[in-house]
Amino acid sequence: MCGIVGYIGNNAVTEELLNGLKNLEYRGYDSAGIALNDNQKIVVFKASGKLTNLNAVLSEKKAQSCSSTVGIGHIRWATHGKPSIENAHPHLSNDGNLVLVHNGIIENYKELRQQLTNKGVVFHSQTDTEAAVHLFAEEYKKCGSLEQAVRKALSQIKGAFAFVIMHHAEPDKIIAVRKNAPLIIGCGNNENYVASDIPALLGKVKHIIHLDDDEMAVIKKDNVTVKDVLGNIIQKKIEKISLQPDVISKNGYAHFMLKEICEQPAILRNVLQKHIQNNEIFLDDAKIVVHWEKVRKVVIVACGTSLHAAMVAKKVWEEWLKIPVIIEVASEFIYQNNLIDENSLVIGVSQSGETADTITALKQAKICKAQIMVLTNRIDSSIVRYADSVVPLNAGVEISVAATKSYMAQLAAFYWIGLFMTQKINKISCLAFSEKLQTLREIPEKIEEILSHRQYIESLAQKLKTYAAVVFMARGFNLPTAYEAALKLKEISYINANAYPAGELKHGPIALLDEQMPVIALFEEGETKPKLLSNCEEAKARYAPVIGIGGKRCSDVFDAYIETPDTDACFSPLLLCVPIQLLAYYTAKALHREIDQPRNLAKSVTVE
Ligand code: G6P
Repeated sequence: MCGIVGYIGNNAVTEELLNGLKNLEYRGYDSAGIALNDNQKIVVFKASGKLTNLNAVLSEKKAQSCSSTVGIGHIRWATHGKPSIENAHPHLSNDGNLVLVHNGIIENYKELRQQLTNKGVVFHSQTDTEAAVHLFAEEYKKCGSLEQAVRKALSQIKGAFAFVIMHHAEPDKIIAVRKNAPLIIGCGNNENYVASDIPALLGKVKHIIHLDDDEMAVIKKDNVTVKDVLGNIIQKKIEKISLQPDVISKNGYAHFMLKEICEQPAILRNVLQKHIQNNEIFLDDAKIVVHWEKVRKVVIVACGTSLHAAMVAKKVWEEWLKIPVIIEVASEFIYQNNLIDENSLVIGVSQSGETADTITALKQAKICKAQIMVLTNRIDSSIVRYADSVVPLNAGVEISVAATKSYMAQLAAFYWIGLFMTQKINKISCLAFSEKLQTLREIPEKIEEILSHRQYIESLAQKLKTYAAVVFMARGFNLPTAYEAALKLKEISYINANAYPAGELKHGPIALLDEQMPVIALFEEGETKPKLLSNCEEAKARYAPVIGIGGKRCSDVFDAYIETPDTDACFSPLLLCVPIQLLAYYTAKALHREIDQPRNLAKSVTVE
């Protein structure tokens, strides 16, 4: 959700900023811009659309030849104001001296805008951000110090922000401040960076500082000073970056999404090896401090794909643990009476660890004294700060905006933690426990088998791409898989896809069915199977093309069928998520969509 990069050092700043922004494109691609402090004045270059458009502008204006070594850059995911050049960052003060980039939302921007307009300030964009740049500039006029002006103005700003700011008269520094939006500082040799996330710094620096809320960093070429709201210096930990630069390569795959889908067996194997050895569960790098004896209910909060992983956990854990597991959309949890207390375990699931809705939900749960657990792919992320227990997902960096391997890693985590908890509260026999572990261990090989038959799914996608809308349906453990299938298909192919519990079809959605509305049913073994088959017959009777996905094909009702290896129903979401990811991928490919960067989306959503 907007990517920020800043650089101060000895190199040509344009290239440094572009390199960093390229690796942050997963955060937004509605517009891009950079500002350089080049001794004469602040120069700003902007383009709407993707970074390649900015590249073209920079070449045309010969920006690369600019000798400046200080600058800031931004890629935008639009919140206030449409994606246009006027609304693109960086935003410049009216005297042309102060410039900034922003990630987050300024909630009182209308009031600030009004106050500033009353003083004669002229606005040029529809953004919330522009209020901040003029406010900083007004304060600067009073005190003549960027650091003081920012500190003064911040006390008037409500909302979430990561700001990176420069002033023409202070070319030796960049100022970075944050509240509820991520920022890290990359520490180099006689050069320093600031960025929204580590990928922007890979191959550039080996050490970083995580800025925390209400902290301000004064970043100079040869030093970084972090201060609190009052200006007191804070000693920050300098951490080593553990990611290798090659994690952001496609490794020969056409898209990051396909690469990430194909990485899933290895990721699952690795997670299982870390946590399961000789019929025992080990925490390894997970820190779990839960007072199990107090837990009367589990509440899981999440958004998007992570929410679907949570829905699988509900089905599995309620069966194993025999305690209520409640799933809440994080953005709704915030506004309702959740009846949680110290006997509740509240779990936040977020691959990025930066999703504002999920973080806000956990903050509320903490106030209610709940025990808090977090499952995240980024143990250095903001969400971790609110957790008593932290479970790293170990999926590796996921670049494609559509989540795939992080979903697999979330499911894996829920399965091993579920078994761990089941054992802790004595809800399972030794035999049943070791049978479940064995079933789990067999899954990676079965996923490999599905991947090896992906050409068939590619051929089905050629047909699927011709429809304007698709219905997914399932019963049991795979209802969340159906929701995830619909989400994946719509987010990257833009085909209107919806998912329903198969039993609900007859209560409304069946009215949509005809020969132009394919129905895709997800099968698992057990009592749901014959009922789901009947629902397929009902769809067929309304002329809908019917596609089945699951174990062995068991009826001639299907127009097409994707067979997956057999497994126990409760573990089948680990298998069935793979063909639905591939189906979405190949359909989007057949439609020539921008698979890794679908329109209007961003991977990390740091606004509520
Ligand atoms: C965005 C992404 C989704 C993701 C969701 C939740 O909408 O596009 O892929 O599932 O955020 O993200 P989180 O990082 O909290 O899992």
